[in-house]
Amino acid sequence: MNSIFSATEIDLAFDKQHIWHPYTSMTDPVSVTGVKSAQGCELTLADGSIVIDGTSSWWASIHGYGHPHIINAMQHQLSTLSHVMFGGLTHAPAINLCKRLVEITSPSLTKVFLADSGSIAVEVAMKMAMQYWQGKGHMQKQRMMTVKRGYHGDTFAAMSVCDPDNGMHTMFNEALSEQIFAPAPTSAFNEPVNQQDIAALEAVFAEHHQDIAAFIIEPVMQAAGGMHFYSPQYLQHVRRLCDKYQVLLILDEIATGFGRIGKLFAYEYANIEADILCLGKALTGGYISLAATVCSDDVAQGISHSPASVFMHGPTFMGNPLACAAAEASLSLLQTQDWQSNVAAIANQMQQQLAEAIDYPHVKDVRILGAVGVIEMDKPINISQLQQDFIDQGVWVRPFGNVIYITPPYVISSEQLTQLTQAMKTIAKHINSQQTQAQTPSNG
Ligand SMILES: Cc1ncc(COP(=O)(O)O)c(C=O)c1O
Repeated sequence: MNSIFSATEIDLAFDKQHIWHPYTSMTDPVSVTGVKSAQGCELTLADGSIVIDGTSSWWASIHGYGHPHIINAMQHQLSTLSHVMFGGLTHAPAINLCKRLVEITSPSLTKVFLADSGSIAVEVAMKMAMQYWQGKGHMQKQRMMTVKRGYHGDTFAAMSVCDPDNGMHTMFNEALSEQIFAPAPTSAFNEPVNQQDIAALEAVFAEHHQDIAAFIIEPVMQAAGGMHFYSPQYLQHVRRLCDKYQVLLILDEIATGFGRIGKLFAYEYANIEADILCLGKALTGGYISLAATVCSDDVAQGISHSPASVFMHGPTFMGNPLACAAAEASLSLLQTQDWQSNVAAIANQMQQQLAEAIDYPHVKDVRILGAVGVIEMDKPINISQLQQDFIDQGVWVRPFGNVIYITPPYVISSEQLTQLTQAMKTIAKHINSQQTQAQTPSNG
């Protein structure tokens, strides 16, 4: 009998034949694992086994899965107004969400553009900066400056500011805009800034500022570039140099925003304000795709004086009410719950449990900041060889490059976290040369 509901069986053979997964081959796909449901910090796999999620689904699911507050908000919104175009229309979910975003971000950030995904929020930020300088009559200021080892997304403009060596530059070289790169920051989170980094940075500003619309950077944590935490003092210099050389500052908080590394926003560590801020991932608590680009009055004014006089972007699903309702519910949870204590407890426990891994043969570094715990290996890890090993240990952990990392939901229990750190250590300790060869691109 036909049902209006689709089959719930997970047809892995069809998946393998017909469906792309992130950064995979369609002719020689790596294996994927079926997942039936998720609750709290646990995923129930196709075979009924349960694994603890150490990824928060790429750093997004901060409150865990199936949270009743977010589900209720989304169900209510779905039955009231699931979507309507944003051109010429508006609605309470977008307005309520944007009120909160204006309230919780820096005082100077007051204008919100709702985008569909992190990469699009970055595209929007770059277009804002370019139109701003057009409005100021500096028509040549249309390029971006950034640091190496960054990651800002997979669309074309976003790719152009990703790390030029590890990113996709060589593949799409002919089509990518040529941007300006400074060396990656070298001082660790709790170290004073390396003055050589600042000298190198200023040299690039001095040489290119006349062509540069904005400097874009992931504040404090370079995430997909290897989960590196750098000195917040570096950001203070970035802000100073942006002001000195008349360059806008775009902070990409898509990975770091909403408490992941211990502050609501990573820029708070440096006590600076962006001109343009990109948010995504955990914005909706990881329930549905939504991102936002928030800018200052000054940026909005500049755009108004550009030849177009309006900001030239407007996707079909802009301001999707369902996504806005999820985001508002997620933010209301953050604002009413003591996430700071949860993140601090996660950091403490990871510190205690992961520290010993530094003595394992192939471990290069162990580092923790907020709810991010990293074991860096001395060589890239072959994830397809190791994925099943993690599942066998009862956890969902997905290393990339040479890092085994966890970014658990903030609601994880101490027992669940112990299981995650135990699995990381077991795998890191016993990793052999076969498992450290192939490179996994980006965060796939
Ligand atoms: C810092 C940063 N910016 C942008 C993006 C792109 O976001 P999305 O995957 O939603 O397009 C990511 C994704 O990992 C990210 O970490």
